[in-house]
Amino acid sequence: MTSKKEINSQWKHYGWEEKFAGVLQKPVTLSEIECLKNSRDKTSVWKLTLNSGSETVPVILKIFQQPLKENHLVEMNMYRKAYPVFQEMMPKMIWLESDVKNGEFWLFTECLEPVRGQIKLRPYHLERMIPTVAKFHALTFKNRLSDKQATLFDSWLPRYESKELTAERIQHIEKTKEYLDLAMQDPDLRKVVEPAYDIIKVILGKGPIFFPEVIEAGQCLIHGDLHIHNICCQDTSDEHNWPVQLIDWESAKYAPCWYDLVVLVELLIDFRGDWQKKEDDIRSRCVDIYNKEMAKYGIVFKEDPVKLLKMNYLQRVLEKRLLNHLRRVLNGEKSLLLKRYLEKIVVWGKELNLY
Ligand SMILES: Nc1ncnc2c1ncn2[C@@H]1O[C@H](COP(=O)(O)OP(=O)(O)O)[C@@H](O)[C@H]1O
Ligand SMILES: [Mg+2]
Repeated sequence: MTSKKEINSQWKHYGWEEKFAGVLQKPVTLSEIECLKNSRDKTSVWKLTLNSGSETVPVILKIFQQPLKENHLVEMNMYRKAYPVFQEMMPKMIWLESDVKNGEFWLFTECLEPVRGQIKLRPYHLERMIPTVAKFHALTFKNRLSDKQATLFDSWLPRYESKELTAERIQHIEKTKEYLDLAMQDPDLRKVVEPAYDIIKVILGKGPIFFPEVIEAGQCLIHGDLHIHNICCQDTSDEHNWPVQLIDWESAKYAPCWYDLVVLVELLIDFRGDWQKKEDDIRSRCVDIYNKEMAKYGIVFKEDPVKLLKMNYLQRVLEKRLLNHLRRVLNGEKSLLLKRYLEKIVVWGKELNLY
């Protein structure tokens, strides 16, 4: 695991002071190092404070350890290659050093202000973030890029409809069936799973695409992990539209556009018991804004947008999330979402004619 001492010594070894001075166009010295995340995970995140005269310049360092995962390469490629397309919505890369000690990649980026920490999150805050999400989606919606821009994404951007991701979905669904059976053999878990068991077994047989509408609505480059911790904003004073920037690009892919709204809105509702009294209202306001904002870019959805959100939610749960949460509880860990997933599959599955 990386330590502050090591960052200091690599800082000198690689001569980053001079390299950064070139990029930032001002002389800098390293003054402070703060650890933001350093778990057994394959990445650690640090905040470095640089001094430039009387000015301080905060910089984020994300360290990717070997063996690199595919999503680590995706994040680095977002900074290395896709930045020209999305520069408004992402921090700037300052430096990427490959092969630091045992093949680690050290990615230095601009430090932004996470939304969390600036505000006490309320449902109306989501409405201020959604216009930027729509703008971000519209840039690549249905491959609407110039040929030159499109080549930026060739060879590294995962695609929802690729052979690999399709095979992965099929595998996940098979595994979900197995885990449901295992859960039925555990007396405590059985109580949770049994009311939905028969219905979910029938539904899973219809995969891997449960709603063609999800694909038909249109795909674009999505962030893929758009929860509140990954959203930054340098100015939250505007009451209508925040200039949002996104961090943590590991899950970026070319995929159904509504997936980002599922994470941003629906998953938050799932976690926030206190928002659930007003969930219909929160959901419909958010999807309405997304729908109207997308229309500004000439993107019109044929399906009712609330229905689209629900379909995308169920598709995402059935192809992967249900499996993750079943695995968790079977390993003796807690899951705040399993019960809610099961209930929503039953209720929305009926509403959307899945069974
Ligand atoms: N560019 C940045 N500006 C400000 N804070 C950041 C930045 N990048 C990461 N962070 C902080 O570090 C945390 C973890 O970084 P992130 O890239 O999201 O890693 P993980 O994949 O572990 O979620 C973020 O939730 C955020 O608080
Ligand atoms: Mg994150």
